Amino acid sequence: MIHLHPTQPTWVFGYGSLIWKQDFPYIEARPGRITGWARRFWQGSHDHRGTEEDPGRVVTLVAAPGEHCDGRAFLVEPEVFEHLDHREKNGYERVAVEIAFEGGSVDGVVYRASESNEAFLGPAPMEEIAKQMNRCVGPSGSNREYVVELARALRGMGVLDGHVAEVEGWVLGLEWRHIYPI
Ligand code: SIN
Repeated sequence: MIHLHPTQPTWVFGYGSLIWKQDFPYIEARPGRITGWARRFWQGSHDHRGTEEDPGRVVTLVAAPGEHCDGRAFLVEPEVFEHLDHREKNGYERVAVEIAFEGGSVDGVVYRASESNEAFLGPAPMEEIAKQMNRCVGPSGSNREYVVELARALRGMGVLDGHVAEVEGWVLGLEWRHIYPI
């Protein structure tokens, strides 16, 4: 875990549920971009969008040289990290990141679940991912809600993320594919 400044506010880059579900106070929020990372539904969720027996899928960041990930950055006071660390406890670690804004950049942190954490699931066929997301429910709600809300929030920000759009399309279209197989 990267250490934070003990008294100064820190920018935290959100790329998943932090974009659309703010249950924490922040001083300022801005659209931002990080480079060298891609957003993927490759992290298992036992604690929010699934259970130990049937984990859901949530996003993490995978190294992707030359690519970028668009999200929303929040400037938060040091004490807010106690809540964020708890919320992101299932495999995520705080890592340092440079966040680009329109007209400049800042040093900040991002919660990333690495390939070596126990809950990591990795890639899978889209149909499998969609079935899992339509089935799984956890203490924070359904896995389906997670992908639909993330996709909606990104669209609202004018961000096109091909992976999120593809997963959302499969999740929403699964029942039609069964009725009208192609
Ligand atoms: C994030 O939103 O930045 C981290 C992943 C998540 O909580 O969905």
